[in-house]
Amino acid sequence: MKSKQMVEGEIVKSVLIVDDEVGARESLRMILKTDYAVFLAKDAEEAILQIKEHPPDVILLDIILPDLDGLKLLEKIKQKEPDVIVIMITATKTVKTAVEAMKLGAYDYVTKPFDVDELRLIISRALSTQALEKEVIYLRKEVDRSFVFENIIGKSKVMKEMFGMVKQVADSKSTVLVMGESGTGKELISRAIHYNSNRKNYPFVTINCAAIPETLIESELFGHEKGAFTNAIEKKLGRFEVAHQGTLFLDEIGELSLATQAKILRFLEEKEFNRVGGSKTIKVDVRLITATNRDLNQLLKKGVFREDLYYRINVVPIIIPPLRERKEDIPILLDHFVKKYNEESNKRVKGVSKEALELMMNYEWPGNVRELENSIERVIALTSNEYIQPDELPIPLTNISKTNGLRESVLTGKVSFLKAEEEFERGIILDTLKKTNYVQSHAAEMLGISRRILKYKMDKLGIVQDNTKEL
Ligand SMILES: Nc1ncnc2c1ncn2[C@@H]1O[C@H](COP(=O)(O)OP(=O)(O)OP(=O)(O)O)[C@@H](O)[C@H]1O
Ligand SMILES: [Mg+2]
Repeated sequence: MKSKQMVEGEIVKSVLIVDDEVGARESLRMILKTDYAVFLAKDAEEAILQIKEHPPDVILLDIILPDLDGLKLLEKIKQKEPDVIVIMITATKTVKTAVEAMKLGAYDYVTKPFDVDELRLIISRALSTQALEKEVIYLRKEVDRSFVFENIIGKSKVMKEMFGMVKQVADSKSTVLVMGESGTGKELISRAIHYNSNRKNYPFVTINCAAIPETLIESELFGHEKGAFTNAIEKKLGRFEVAHQGTLFLDEIGELSLATQAKILRFLEEKEFNRVGGSKTIKVDVRLITATNRDLNQLLKKGVFREDLYYRINVVPIIIPPLRERKEDIPILLDHFVKKYNEESNKRVKGVSKEALELMMNYEWPGNVRELENSIERVIALTSNEYIQPDELPIPLTNISKTNGLRESVLTGKVSFLKAEEEFERGIILDTLKKTNYVQSHAAEMLGISRRILKYKMDKLGIVQDNTKEL
């Protein structure tokens, strides 16, 4: 029989056998060594040491040990490693000890002499139950955002080509690099690839590299052993391990440090890694999809992104163009979001007025589809109109002012006077901020108002202060 340890991409699970009889230990080792990495301990003391050195997936634990009652040891183990599977070995099958052991967290028990097939079955069933539980936890989180391919809306040529591409690459194991501005649907496309692949029944795990501090990213990705660093109170599985047999979506890959890039490269080359603070090499079968809104070529030139990693992740590149370059998608996206938010907020908005549509077709959508979706969500929650009107849209109306003139829009009733006034203020404030290099006190001075008033107006108009300096 081919040893499982040789099977490409499979995690080799480990079993620790704790039994004081050398004969029992050896026979168990012979039975299990073809399928698992086997470790042995003759008493509780050795068992504790072994667990520390090679944290096992399964422990076969004799109920009678020379130095400590097996049940006591079980209790200790479960306190430290609640996830480990413990199967008790009993010489005399008494209901009492079995029930006791189960209460303390044992998975099952076997009686000596063992039935070899039964033992094998119990272990493999325990391991697959555990994998399933892990997966269920992830899938539950995913259900809310459950996804069908048809939910990606688009009729432009580029989007149709993209749908074809998604179907084509879904079943391969190639790494995919999804590129596009913020809000273009990079995550949506990545989910589509996963849920159209033969990995769809396994987890789709995401991690946003930009949202996690550099000091924690390695342990988030690869997990850590208990005690690996000051706050590592418990052993923790990394996202790579949780994504076994599924897909790992590494978002904002351009934000990774060179050190972390090297570790990901090692995984891509060798399909294996170590948990932080661990010596055990872990093999997983994970498909990697990465995404970025940055120009990786620039990062390569600057020397902040590894070239070898770039070639590894960029096997299949998918570039999602910004919404302003595929404006023909706007009307059907609008339809889709109007329906979606009607349902969510129990409204009956019929659609978008001609004028509002014109405004939206002329707008540049710097935040892409996300901005469009958020705008519709907001309007639907607030409106009592049948058709959405231009002045209800939370987008700057300066586009109208450019084409038709703000004044004209007010006079023809396209835009309300108050909205026009707001837009006028917004335009001047933004221009002044730009001229003064976003230093608020200078802008206020130039406008002849106090800094407090400027701040008040900025808040009211929703001008974000992120890139302004509060000097
Ligand atoms: N073609 C589309 N059809 C329907 N919804 C879309 C489409 N593109 C994007 N969306 C929606 O827009 C929002 C943003 O999409 P997503 O999170 O995938 O963008 P992103 O490119 O990952 O953005 P960021 O770079 O900011 O992380 C989501 O709510 C998504 O459902
Ligand atoms: Mg995203």
